Amino acid sequence: MSKPTVFVSRVPPGSALEKLRTECEVRLWEQDSPTPREVLLAELAQCDGIFAMLTERLDAEALEAAPRLRVISNMAVGYDNIDIPAATARGIPVGHTPGVLTETTADLAFALMLAAARRLPEGERYVRGGQWKTWSPTVLLGQDIYGATLGIIGFGRIGQAVARRAQGFNIKQFYYGGGNIQVARELNVHPCKLDDLLRDSDFVSLHVPLSEKTHHLIGARELALMKPTSILINTARGGVVDPKALYEALANGQIGAAALDVTEPEPISPDDPLLTLDNCLIVPHIGSATVATRARMADMAADNLLAGLRGERLPHCVNPAVYEGHGGSLT
Ligand code: GLV
Ligand code: GLV
Repeated sequence: MSKPTVFVSRVPPGSALEKLRTECEVRLWEQDSPTPREVLLAELAQCDGIFAMLTERLDAEALEAAPRLRVISNMAVGYDNIDIPAATARGIPVGHTPGVLTETTADLAFALMLAAARRLPEGERYVRGGQWKTWSPTVLLGQDIYGATLGIIGFGRIGQAVARRAQGFNIKQFYYGGGNIQVARELNVHPCKLDDLLRDSDFVSLHVPLSEKTHHLIGARELALMKPTSILINTARGGVVDPKALYEALANGQIGAAALDVTEPEPISPDDPLLTLDNCLIVPHIGSATVATRARMADMAADNLLAGLRGERLPHCVNPAVYEGHGGSLT
């Protein structure tokens, strides 16, 4: 039997490619940029599986162009780049990489929180700009993290990992949105209504997936509830925050600062007004970007893809509904 053909949309880190090549014909987009749409559609026309990144939009049109496709493996925990109902309707399982990036992403959320509160990027610009002439009792005063109040929106794996870190800073914590009540109790994180959380928190950190329900969850109304000193941290997806409303809130002093790992759109345009603000810190979607974690994600994505091609259940499947009602054809 000939090997199945897979398309890999970017060069993954670690040994994922070697692993795939033992069982598959690998076709690869070798440049370090998203696969252009027309290339993606042409590759989909002939592949049995795809190893994709969050930069590849696998919508209904893309799936329509993929008559042989049997499995989609996303090298990310989030999967808002994929039309899941369309994949499910075609019986195509979708794999993702939960768990392995939880701690790494929580580290970045905490790094952003500390950096924004203590104004590290501004301090760095100040030194490099030659403004550091003397010590000053009043320059670059920030806010305490120790003893502050943190509101966590979305208390899944990453939200909980942020909460564990915050314990070490004696931070008072609340969460909104689904979560593990038992873990919340153990960590002394209290459930809270969204509006109360926004009103009372010094830091608000977002950990919800992007969906129709969470699109622009934080807009003008929500930002207006926050304290003028509050700091908003987003390591989830850019679309969870309305960027125009965020600009207004930051520019008008309605909130204190924002620290973003994700933007809408991505990448953010160099002319975006958010980049004109000193109280907005933006990094380029690097939540899971450590050597070890990216290698683990690639490995896990390879395992999902290979399982799908062998007709086995994906170890980490987003749409297990594909395994129901197919008369056991997937075993
Ligand atoms: C990254 O944003 C991911 O979803 O893994
Ligand atoms: C992401 O969905 C996570 O909480 O790990």
